[in-house]
Amino acid sequence: MLSLNKKLFESSVIFMEEQLQFLEIELNAILQASKDNIVITDGKGNVLRASPNCISIYGKGSSYLIGKSVYELEAENIFLPSVTKKVLTERKEVQVMQHTPTGRTVMATGFPVCNDLDEIIRVISFSYDLTEIQCLKEDYEELRTRMERYQSEIQELRERGQSKEDIVIQSKSIQRIWQLLQRVAKSDASVVFLGESGVGKNVFARALHKGSHRKTETFIEVNCGAIPESLFESEMFGYEAGSFTGANKKGKPGLIEIADKGTLFLDEIGELPLSVQAKLLKAIQEKKVTRVGGVYSKSINFRLIASTNQDLEEMVKQGKFRQDLFYRLNVISITIPPLRERKEDIVMLVHYYLKKFNEKYETSKYFHSTTIEELVDYEWPGNVRELQNIIERLVITTETRTIYPDSLPFHIQREHQQNMDNWYVEELEERGTSLQEALEEVEIRWLKRAVRQYKTTYEMAEYLGLNQSNVVRKLKKYGINAKSHRNA
Ligand SMILES: Nc1ncnc2c1ncn2[C@@H]1O[C@H](COP(=O)(O)OP(=O)(O)OP(=O)(O)O)[C@@H](O)[C@H]1O
Ligand SMILES: [Mg+2]
Repeated sequence: MLSLNKKLFESSVIFMEEQLQFLEIELNAILQASKDNIVITDGKGNVLRASPNCISIYGKGSSYLIGKSVYELEAENIFLPSVTKKVLTERKEVQVMQHTPTGRTVMATGFPVCNDLDEIIRVISFSYDLTEIQCLKEDYEELRTRMERYQSEIQELRERGQSKEDIVIQSKSIQRIWQLLQRVAKSDASVVFLGESGVGKNVFARALHKGSHRKTETFIEVNCGAIPESLFESEMFGYEAGSFTGANKKGKPGLIEIADKGTLFLDEIGELPLSVQAKLLKAIQEKKVTRVGGVYSKSINFRLIASTNQDLEEMVKQGKFRQDLFYRLNVISITIPPLRERKEDIVMLVHYYLKKFNEKYETSKYFHSTTIEELVDYEWPGNVRELQNIIERLVITTETRTIYPDSLPFHIQREHQQNMDNWYVEELEERGTSLQEALEEVEIRWLKRAVRQYKTTYEMAEYLGLNQSNVVRKLKKYGINAKSHRNA
């Protein structure tokens, strides 16, 4: 009986040892496999077990930690702060953020394990590496603040817009346009700006938007001359997913759709292909757009402004611009006169751009009064854009502080031109040449040059801008031998 009991006892000890071994294996497997770092201490805070990833998180391997107390490890700045210490003090589950010696940010959660007498016999802590999440959070925070800053900058720019201070309004004609613009801005009527290139159509179109109740909404500027005809429809009206090869998989809103609640400015409207004109007219009339490849239309609330330096009425007559669209756009048309017809603006613009470029290039140049007179006299075929470019060039290139007339490009120098004219005429007079003789002299020189350069009288005619029979007649009149001159 005794030996039976002993046998039973021995086999149960073996069984329990086996179970303990299994438990040990299981526990080690958990410690090995866990992504979290696990540390187990006794009830006094001495480390009993630690998972192998301690080395990457805390900079010390489990062999270093095991046997040490968390109080020591905290003093060594390894557990900073120790979650186990807090669990032992507070006797409950706690969470702490740790900054480890390897530069990681860790969220450590500790649990007390108590016996039947409610004594803490173990503390188990799990540490979760938050570094990547922390980095993502910091990136997110940075992006968020950046976004907020951009948003407020955009808002500020929208509100500031092109203020009156940025636009020179001196002449009576431009003052009248400015007043008209302020009145028109309040309505939602379509406006078309007309005028030569460089007179300021874009500037006034933007000012119109800024003066309207849509000023805080988008201002979409479309340069109709810059979009290839094949892309026009999809750019203006957008397209649905997979509507044509090369299209964006998700589809794309068109420019009209993006201008919702705001203003759509069609710059260089004269370049709008006829095929798009019909669809645009429909969109303006119905205030709805249907994307390319789409079935449903979407209501869009936009104000239309257009501009062109072409004669739209003439284009209508030639069938290049739809009459119905022309009338739709032309509800209010504002023609900005060329600079040569508003000389008062020239002086102001010269000073405005001089100041601007002096600031930009940190110079303090100024114009001699004769230079200003010559600038005022000049015809400015490229209008304000040309003036702006010339002032910038003068500020950069003039060596002296004062900008004298001789710094002006030759085509602007009035005096220079007059001197050249006088000099040539005086020379002819001295030689006793009549006007008729002088003209013939020029004609002969020009014909001889054509003969030297070209083989046939047809080519010469094209070069001289005459018809071929005329050339033959003139060569005969002056006795110019085509062949001999060419060989010379
Ligand atoms: N009244 C003005 N005051 C200040 N700058 C102006 C004024 N008018 C035009 N400008 C300037 O002249 C340049 C040309 O103006 P803008 O682009 O508006 O001309 P545009 O009539 O649209 O020419 P285009 O027909 O070639 O497109 C711009 O740099 C603009 O800032
Ligand atoms: Mg323009």
